[in-house]
Amino acid sequence: MKEQLNFKIELISPEQVIAVRQPVLRKGKPIEACIFDGDDLPTTFHVGIFINGSLVGVVSFMENKHPLFEEENQYQLRGMAVLESYQFKGLGYEILKYGESLLIKKGIKMCWCNAREIAVDFYRKNNYTIKGDPFLIPEIGIHYVIHKNLQ
Ligand SMILES: CC(C)(COP(=O)(O)OP(=O)(O)OC[C@H]1O[C@@H](n2cnc3c(N)ncnc32)[C@H](O)[C@@H]1OP(=O)(O)O)[C@@H](O)C(=O)NCCC(=O)NCCS
Repeated sequence: MKEQLNFKIELISPEQVIAVRQPVLRKGKPIEACIFDGDDLPTTFHVGIFINGSLVGVVSFMENKHPLFEEENQYQLRGMAVLESYQFKGLGYEILKYGESLLIKKGIKMCWCNAREIAVDFYRKNNYTIKGDPFLIPEIGIHYVIHKNLQ
């Protein structure tokens, strides 16, 4: 952590995730646009970080194989978001680390993500590597597939 923030990290429900996903990743869009396919699957888990009891950051992990990768045991990281006033304080790093530690416990070998161009440096700092060429997700922008071997 860069500054001493008193935070708590725990697993949260798909409904709780929306409170951060919406303002950060789907600004001005309806709730339906903030619900991802797979949010409710039993293999999916959602991580939240709380400051003074308020949820300020979220990330979700879903079992999903990307055709670019051969590993059988893959998870996709989705919906990584920290409320704007809490960004760049190390909270994203903390929820990513927590989620990865749960994946390692599950025996998952690799985690990948469709990363927004502006967030690629954040993932690089967390030891993710780009695979392949950039691509466009309509209405959101340029993305890169990034990945990390976990064990
Ligand atoms: C990307 C995001 C989740 C990172 O969380 P965070 O709590 O701000 O990140 P941290 O403070 O743990 O780490 C920040 C580090 O990543 C780097 N970084 C690069 N691009 C960044 C970006 N767009 N946002 C935040 N950090 C970024 C910073 O330089 C910083 O490095 P430093 O520690 O050497 O200064 C958060 O900024 C966010 O919600 N951004 C908007 C939504 C988004 O783009 N989500 C990703 C979708 S793929």
